[in-house]
Amino acid sequence: MDKDALKKIISHSKEYGFIFPSSEIYEGLNAIYDYAHNGTLLKNNIREYWWKSMVQLNENIVGIDSAIFMHPKTWVASGHVDAFNDPLIDNKDSKKRYRADVLIEEHIEKLNLKIKKEVSKAEKRFKEKFDKKEFLATNPRVKEITKSINEIKSKMVSAFEDDDLVLVKKLIDDLEIKCQVSGTCNWTEVRQFNLMFNTKLGASEDSSMDLYLRPETAQGIFLNYLSVQKTSRMKIPFGIAQTGKAFRNEIVARQFIFRMREFEQMEMQFFIQPGTQEDWFNQWKKKRLKWHLNLGIESDCFRYHDHDKLAHYADAACDIEFLFPFGFKELEGIHSRTDFDLKSHEKLSGKKIQYFDPLLNKNYTPFVLETSIGLDRMFLAIISNSLKTEILEDGTSRNVMNIPKPLAPNKLAFLPLVKKDGLPEYTRNIMKDFIHEINIVFDEKDAIGRRYRRQDAIGTPYCITVDHQTIEDDSFTIRDRESMEQKRINLSELKTIINDELSLNSLLKKLDN
Ligand code: GAP
Repeated sequence: MDKDALKKIISHSKEYGFIFPSSEIYEGLNAIYDYAHNGTLLKNNIREYWWKSMVQLNENIVGIDSAIFMHPKTWVASGHVDAFNDPLIDNKDSKKRYRADVLIEEHIEKLNLKIKKEVSKAEKRFKEKFDKKEFLATNPRVKEITKSINEIKSKMVSAFEDDDLVLVKKLIDDLEIKCQVSGTCNWTEVRQFNLMFNTKLGASEDSSMDLYLRPETAQGIFLNYLSVQKTSRMKIPFGIAQTGKAFRNEIVARQFIFRMREFEQMEMQFFIQPGTQEDWFNQWKKKRLKWHLNLGIESDCFRYHDHDKLAHYADAACDIEFLFPFGFKELEGIHSRTDFDLKSHEKLSGKKIQYFDPLLNKNYTPFVLETSIGLDRMFLAIISNSLKTEILEDGTSRNVMNIPKPLAPNKLAFLPLVKKDGLPEYTRNIMKDFIHEINIVFDEKDAIGRRYRRQDAIGTPYCITVDHQTIEDDSFTIRDRESMEQKRINLSELKTIINDELSLNSLLKKLDN
């Protein structure tokens, strides 16, 4: 884990107006953050990319914005009251708390790394004669590690399925898993801890109702599913998309905005015919990975992780993992949620929420395929991938954020070369041509080189420098964030760049191809 890289991201985010720790004047609040100006712009752009790619590009996906507070029975039906727990274990020496399943999964990951090492050693030894498939199937050492991985996985799955926390603890003991901080195996028992925050609705103690802050946005979609289907006249298969805040009393909230207590989700529930879930699961896995790769981030930074331990509502689940500074971790979940939620709500509410399928001429409870991504986690993926420190030819260094251009907080920075001769006024006049279309910024303070650096550090793709020649022929210098190259262009060329490279439309069009 690169602790320095994460530290650098945190301090850069604060210094350049992306993210502030919340309530800082009162010493802050653990795992709660506020988004500053540049951070809000970037976050809005990511949300818009997601929203438009779902709702605008798919005629069978519609949107909704449901309330955070929902009837408390919602969470009984959804299983969150009984089953939205994290199995926790403490190390008695370091007093550090861990999720028991994560400890075991990390142990498995270490074994997988051992296999990878064996493969790369053999690759070097046998060169072009190397047959990876055969090696994995026949090499005794690899076979032995694979066998123990499978054994651990099956013990873990059955222990969690049976809710047998004693067995989970035994597995951690048997595997001699050590605490990363104390280095000891001195563990407490494993306990379940419910992650929902509760609050009260109403003024008086007697009449008030216990409520939960929603731990996922999905339930707002399930409760509205039939009304949405009817009012938007959708036929199965169709989807409902929503973005909004979710709240979880995370025990091991850490790693900056990776695991927060108040965060935002972007979820889409796709309602399908029972029996077709495997096909849709595979389709959405591919579609969602394509959405990520469309941003131009290297494909090596993503991988699928199929789940062994399934949530109470799922018959299949896969994470799209991203290479964060602290390793590959879940960025997005794709879940085959069966008819669990709709059936449970139907049962507890006593209301019929089935779908009449005109093609099959029968009623049924649809199955649901869900894609669920944390907006803050996507934000972290983007900033951690884009922040670079470069050593330049003259020996100086610069911080640059290579944020995918259509998502950058500001698309263009307009810089009058000097603060006199009417250049600032002329610059502001040119800006009027763009201000309705994209986010742009004006900067006249300091020498031009320092202004370029400031824009590099917040990821502005291009700087437009207005000089004396501009007044004569309406041309200006455009400087590229990545190459730092400068060239002279005119207004219509700039409009083409905006259209082809900087607009969200350009990104959505690529996704469509
Ligand atoms: N409706 C399904 C659901 O909520 P999840 O896997 O628990 O599934 C989905 O969460 C996504 O929400 C995750 O992949 C992650 O991106 C984001 N997420 C979950 N917990 C989070 C937290 N504490 N902080 C930030 N993002 C979180």
